[in-house]
Amino acid sequence: MRFFQVKSFLNHWLDVVDEHSIHSPFFFDFYYQVIRKKNDPVFIEIEKVRGRLLSNQSFVNAKDLGAASPHFKGAKRTIARIAATSLNEEKQCALFYRIARYVEAKHILELGTSFGITSLYFSKIEDAKVTTFEGNPAMINIAQTNFDYFNQKNIELIEGNIDHTLSDRLQNPEKIDFALIDANHQYEPTIRYFNLIAKRMSDHGIMVIDDIYYSEGMAHAWNELKKHDLVYGSIDLFRCGILLFDLNLNKQHFIWSH
Ligand SMILES: C[S@@+](CC[C@H](N)C(=O)[O-])C[C@H]1O[C@@H](n2cnc3c(N)ncnc32)[C@H](O)[C@@H]1O
Repeated sequence: MRFFQVKSFLNHWLDVVDEHSIHSPFFFDFYYQVIRKKNDPVFIEIEKVRGRLLSNQSFVNAKDLGAASPHFKGAKRTIARIAATSLNEEKQCALFYRIARYVEAKHILELGTSFGITSLYFSKIEDAKVTTFEGNPAMINIAQTNFDYFNQKNIELIEGNIDHTLSDRLQNPEKIDFALIDANHQYEPTIRYFNLIAKRMSDHGIMVIDDIYYSEGMAHAWNELKKHDLVYGSIDLFRCGILLFDLNLNKQHFIWSH
């Protein structure tokens, strides 16, 4: 962890509250059904694919399209190292799955597919359609192979730089119930992607911003987004931030551990 992340983590840890300070029935339910829930369905087959990626020493060209990765110097990287450093871990994927399931998501958007592990988790939600965006050709290739392996027909992979592909895709007026923003971890693109997607969120929709303390820019973006006019509740889990669009919520902000 870099100095900024250590400092942010300590602040987060000092501010964390538990269930005793939750008075809203919605947040109370969300805390137990989503954040604290332990008996997840187990995604053994998807995790086996992650295991194979983690031991694959082949090199791919993985030039950063978003914020520069602190883990690599050049663009030539092993699949194993990318899998170890840039994918969401099993615990995190299961959390995203539970959030999307909690809102009974029919349409899920993911910015930043990478090898498609999290997209595969989402694809297991009954009746859900997953639209995932990736710009790196090597990642696209591997993600598509993984989707084909599972014969998963409810995932659409949009190829190309999100700066160009997202607004095109959002011409489609279909509402989004769950969105995961996990691509270009910098202030300006995060705000820009939020503004594009927020207009399309359904009334009960939830958006997750990953890596909110990746950098000062990301923390700045998170601070702005949780106060945004269209956001009616937010939860800071340190590793990611959850934004809720339901008008019936009371503009409450929580800091929880996960
Ligand atoms: C952190 S990884 C995504 C991890 C994935 N969501 C998961 O949970 O496993 C970020 C991905 O976003 C992609 N990305 C970053 N900026 C992008 C951009 N502007 N357009 C398209 N893809 C981008 C990168 O190539 C990388 O594969």
